[in-house]
Amino acid sequence: MNQAQSSSFEIVAREDFSDVTYLLEIRHPMLAKAATAGQFVIVMEHEHGERIPLTIADFDREAGTITLVIQAVGKTTREMQTNCQVGTSLYAVVGPMGIPSQIGGKKKVVCVGGGLGVAPIFPQARAWKESGAYVIGVLGFRNRGLVFWEEKFRACCDELIVCTDDGSAGIKGLVTEGIKQAIAKHADIEELVAIGPPVMMKGCAEATRAHKIKTMVSLNPVMVDGTGMCGGCRVKVGERVKFACVDGPDFDGHLVDFEDLTARLVRYKRAENEALQTWKDGCRIRTAAESAAVPPPMAVDQPSTDA
Ligand SMILES: Cc1cc2nc3c(=O)[nH]c(=O)nc-3n(C[C@H](O)[C@H](O)[C@H](O)COP(=O)(O)OP(=O)(O)OC[C@H]3O[C@@H](n4cnc5c(N)ncnc54)[C@H](O)[C@@H]3O)c2cc1C
Ligand code: FES
Repeated sequence: MNQAQSSSFEIVAREDFSDVTYLLEIRHPMLAKAATAGQFVIVMEHEHGERIPLTIADFDREAGTITLVIQAVGKTTREMQTNCQVGTSLYAVVGPMGIPSQIGGKKKVVCVGGGLGVAPIFPQARAWKESGAYVIGVLGFRNRGLVFWEEKFRACCDELIVCTDDGSAGIKGLVTEGIKQAIAKHADIEELVAIGPPVMMKGCAEATRAHKIKTMVSLNPVMVDGTGMCGGCRVKVGERVKFACVDGPDFDGHLVDFEDLTARLVRYKRAENEALQTWKDGCRIRTAAESAAVPPPMAVDQPSTDA
């Protein structure tokens, strides 16, 4: 890694939201200047690392930083969880990629984030608010301990409905419960935007279908090159095949084939598990080697046997 690369993408802040979710703030003034809501980056943690797509969860043009919120699900995201500390740098950050979300021209919108989708929905909620829309935020978490960024959302939403699976914070139930409440209270919602696991986004699209509310979802298929060349991120939308990296990642949720998306997401499960296991084994060997290399503690406090 040369000096220019190591200083370009320095991690300037880190926050751990839970055992598996962490935030990285990265110095990248050009990207911070160019980023808009709905876009993503492709990141390589080190020279031989995998390229992984991550949504730009926030950007600060003045500070020249972008924020990523990452869930440790497999080899690369766990490796980053271990290695990415303040003061270290990412090897490569490419972006902003993807078509910016279409924001504006609507009076009332609902922004829905489920679990990790809460982070990437934030720039959309803020941009809708800046466009003059009345914004209803609906955030879903498994329990109170996993809730994050509630205050950040309160600052840009006119109403906020927090939902937890166990009812330990906000209302009890999935985000679809929150959507039902919002629709019951407001007959004039013009658009809903949802980001989260495919099953959640499908549920959101079904919740709005009968009400004919335009529903946009941000798709997360496996991406490789991010340039529309490899076909890895192929998704079915209505009668058409689209590439999420260049045609998306936002698509009309009422037209997305979520079954196809889900099936494609688990296609490489065996190879992913093998990669994770190999990495874990490597960590164990390194830890054991480091422990073996530590010299025994000096017996400074022990009484002298010479006396
Ligand atoms: C546009 C987009 C934005 C995303 N934004 C975020 C985000 O903000 N935060 C976050 O935590 N995750 C995000 N993801 C998902 C993230 O890229 C994957 O979790 C990550 O690549 C997993 O890599 P891994 O080696 O840790 O796990 P692996 O064990 O390799 O994979 C775990 C699962 O992640 C998915 N995945 C694996 N490789 C890729 C890949 N190259 N591209 C996309 N998905 C993959 C698959 O469903 C796989 O089963 C986004 C994905 C896309 C397409
Ligand atoms: S990632 Fe290769 S075509 Fe989209």
